[in-house]
Amino acid sequence: MTDPKDKPARRIPLCVPEIRGNEWTYVKECLDTGWVSSVGSYVDRFESGMARCSGTARAVATVNGTSALHVALLVAGVGPEDEVLVSTLTFIAPANAIRYAGAWPVFIDAEPDYWQMDPAKVKDFLERGCTWSDGCLRNKATGRRVRAIIPVHILGHPVDMDPILELARKFGLVVIEDATESLGARYKDRRVGHLGDAACFSFNGNKLLTTGGGGMIVTDNGAWADKAKYLTTQAKDDPLEYVHNERGFNYRLTNLLAAMGCAQLEKVEEFIEAKRAVAGRYRQALAGVPGIRLMAQAPWAASVFWLYTVLVDAKEYGMDSRQLQRRLAAAGIETRPLWQPLHKSPAHRGAFATDCEVADRLHRDGLSLPCSVGLTADDQARVTETIRGRTAP
Ligand SMILES: Cc1ncc(COP(=O)(O)O)c(C=O)c1O
Repeated sequence: MTDPKDKPARRIPLCVPEIRGNEWTYVKECLDTGWVSSVGSYVDRFESGMARCSGTARAVATVNGTSALHVALLVAGVGPEDEVLVSTLTFIAPANAIRYAGAWPVFIDAEPDYWQMDPAKVKDFLERGCTWSDGCLRNKATGRRVRAIIPVHILGHPVDMDPILELARKFGLVVIEDATESLGARYKDRRVGHLGDAACFSFNGNKLLTTGGGGMIVTDNGAWADKAKYLTTQAKDDPLEYVHNERGFNYRLTNLLAAMGCAQLEKVEEFIEAKRAVAGRYRQALAGVPGIRLMAQAPWAASVFWLYTVLVDAKEYGMDSRQLQRRLAAAGIETRPLWQPLHKSPAHRGAFATDCEVADRLHRDGLSLPCSVGLTADDQARVTETIRGRTAP
C-alpha cells in the first residue's frame, strides 16, 4: 500500500478554458444542420455580440487574432516599408502581423508601473526621433514613413491611451488596439477595444473567451469593416464566376467555432468576475511577502487581470523568477515567464526600437501564476503557500 502522503499533488495549470455553458448545444446544432463552415448564423451572432461587448458599430470574425491584426493593418492603409509603433513587451503576434503587411515594427518600451506601452517613450520617439519630409512623418534613423500605432493592452490591463491618442491625432497616425488580453477591461470608463480606430481580439485557448482558435476586428468604420470582410473571404467580387480583383485571404472564422464563441460570450461577465476574484485572493495572500511585487491597477483602469503576474526581486526573495518557476513546477504548479521583449527577438532582428530597459527588467523578473477562471480557492492557496514558504535565501 502506498502512503497517501506520497501521492503526487494534482497539477495546477496556468490558464485553461472554462467550458460549461451552451457550447455543446450550439456546436451540436451546427453538426446536426451541416452549417459547419465559414457561413452561418453563429458567425453573424458572434460578430454582433462582440460589437455589443466592445461598443463598436461593427465586428468581423477571423480565423485567429494574428490574422485579425494583419487585416486591420491592411484596411487601415499600412503598406510595404511603412513603420508601426508597437509594444515591445507582448506576445509576438502583432509584430509578425506588421511584417505580413510588409511594414516594420518600431518597438516601444513598457512603463514600470502597469507594464504597458509607455506613452512618454512614444512621445519622445515621435517628437525627437521623427521628422516631416515629402508630406509624411519619417523615422530619422530609417527614413521610413511612420503610419500607425498598435498599443497592446497586456495581461488584462489597459494602456494609458489618452496621451497616445493625442499624439496619434497630432501626427496623423492610425491607432489599432491589440485588445486580445484585455477583453472587458475599461480605460477611464471607456471600453478597451473602442479607444482607437479599430481593435483586434483573439479567442485562442488561454484567452478570457475561447473558440479554440479565432479572432475579431472591431471598429466604428463601416468601410474598413466591409473591406475586412472582403479580404478575409478571399476578396470575392463575383462569387459565381470566381472573379477576384485583389489577393484576399482565407481568414474567416467557421460557424462551428463561432457557435462556441456565442456560448462563451454569454458568460463573459462571470469570467471577468472570476478573474478579479483570483487577483483579489493573490493580493491578500501575497501582500507583504518580501521580494514579491504584485500586479498593480492604475486609478484610471479597471483591469480584468487576464494573466496574474508578479515580479520577483531575486535579492530580496532569495531566488530569481526562473528558480521560483522551477520550485513551483516541482510542486505541480504551472507558471510562465513574461515574453522575451520583441526588440530582443531574433525573429525581428533589424527593427528599430526605443531604449527598452524597463521591458528587459520585467522580462527578467516577471512570473505569471495560475489564474484560470475555474481555479479553486484550495488550489490557489497551494500556489501562495508554495511561494510564501520560500522567503529566506
Ligand atoms: C497580445 C496578443 N496579440 C495577438 C495574439 C494572437 O492571437 P492568435 O493566437 O489567435 O493568433 C495573442 C495570443 O495568442 C496575444 O496575446
